[in-house]
Amino acid sequence: MTKEIQVNLNHIAPVVSETAVTALMPEVADALSKIHNATGAGNDFLGWVDLPTRTPASLVDEINATAADLSNQCDVVVAIGIGGSYLGAKAVIEALGDSFAEAKPGAPRVVFAGQNIGEDYLFELQEYLRGKRFGIIVISESGTTTEPAIAFRLLKAQLEEQVGKERAKDLIVAITDAHRGALRQLATEEGYRTFVIEDSVGGRFSVLSPVGLLPIAVAGFDIKALLAGAAQMQRATINANATNQAALYAAARNALYRAGKKIEILVNYNPKLHYFGEWWKQLYGESEGKDHRGIFPAAVDNSTDLHSMGQWIQDGERTIFETVLTVGKVHHSVTIPTDEANLDGLNYIAGKHVDEVNKMAELGTRLAHVDGGVPNIVITVPELNENYLGQLIYFFEKACGISGYMLGVNPFNQPGVEAYKKNMFALLEKPGYEAETEAIKKRL
Ligand code: PA5
Repeated sequence: MTKEIQVNLNHIAPVVSETAVTALMPEVADALSKIHNATGAGNDFLGWVDLPTRTPASLVDEINATAADLSNQCDVVVAIGIGGSYLGAKAVIEALGDSFAEAKPGAPRVVFAGQNIGEDYLFELQEYLRGKRFGIIVISESGTTTEPAIAFRLLKAQLEEQVGKERAKDLIVAITDAHRGALRQLATEEGYRTFVIEDSVGGRFSVLSPVGLLPIAVAGFDIKALLAGAAQMQRATINANATNQAALYAAARNALYRAGKKIEILVNYNPKLHYFGEWWKQLYGESEGKDHRGIFPAAVDNSTDLHSMGQWIQDGERTIFETVLTVGKVHHSVTIPTDEANLDGLNYIAGKHVDEVNKMAELGTRLAHVDGGVPNIVITVPELNENYLGQLIYFFEKACGISGYMLGVNPFNQPGVEAYKKNMFALLEKPGYEAETEAIKKRL
């Protein structure tokens, strides 16, 4: 069996003692019971809990076959979606991909759309796709979200213009609800291949469903290994004890929150993890920020951000704690060369691997932050591969469910997301919003 990712709480003291964390274990047990027995708020959104172990091999094979088919026909595949229908796939593809190659050899380049309403972004994407062999994966659980709907309307028209309507059908895959929503209706009428998003799997918990798996497979990564890692973590996070890493993390962050640390910064020292931080922010932000409660999730990429946010973290208001994602092993070897003239004064680290320097930056920063009143939780990931990313994804999902219940909120709804949509529709004079349009115009 592969090693597991590990949580280290050595540096949450003196703000919170390990005893204070252990004292929260009855609350953790209660939260775990709510998750496993579906007795808590939002219990109709628990389909993610056993997704890694119950996903049938036939579905994984179908996803891989569809990915292979798209790969054969396309040089670029556009994954259209927003929020939970975007961030998981983006996070995994960025974490596993080469920092400079456009795509994995033999796989198409996966680009994203529908995650914004940027006119220039869409114009430039359309220009980039002009004349290229491209396909589309359109993902929307509700099937009615405005941002991906706009992107899909534009790119569908472009694809049909480039290859004809009949051929375009073979190059479009829709991932949406089994029955409801405009996207389901459109896919049925146009005859697209589809995958279903189960009602019980909410957007931000959907990366291990076809929502994340298809784009990840198209990009050339091993979704079986991703699911295997997640399944390993699923089995390891059932009981409320000290070996359950998700339980420890959930307990520690709640202990820190109750001690006045209202902001959690997810810190990485590997640029490939930038979008993992974005995925994590959505997972925790949308799950916990409600009823005027919740730890505010932020993220930084170090050492880059030590030169921008480092001052604030070291010395600003003491309301923060850090969760450091540390990656054990890098995949390539680069050593710092000796230079006879030593004009840059770097010979004292000549012969060292770049990662050794990075690790010292990480350790030095962690210790400095503890001295400055910023406790840190450390999560060690042995290396960035599909298995460990699967573990990490499931670990954070499970900890999020536990932590949300400990905070006393429903971790699985997102009522606050609707407020902006209502205003936007009123301002755009969407049919059905006449009263809201009249009311909002008076405020302008
Ligand atoms: O987590 C969530 O539920 C949201 O972030 C959704 O994923 C996001 O709003 C996109 O919704 P949909 O997939 O319905 O287009």
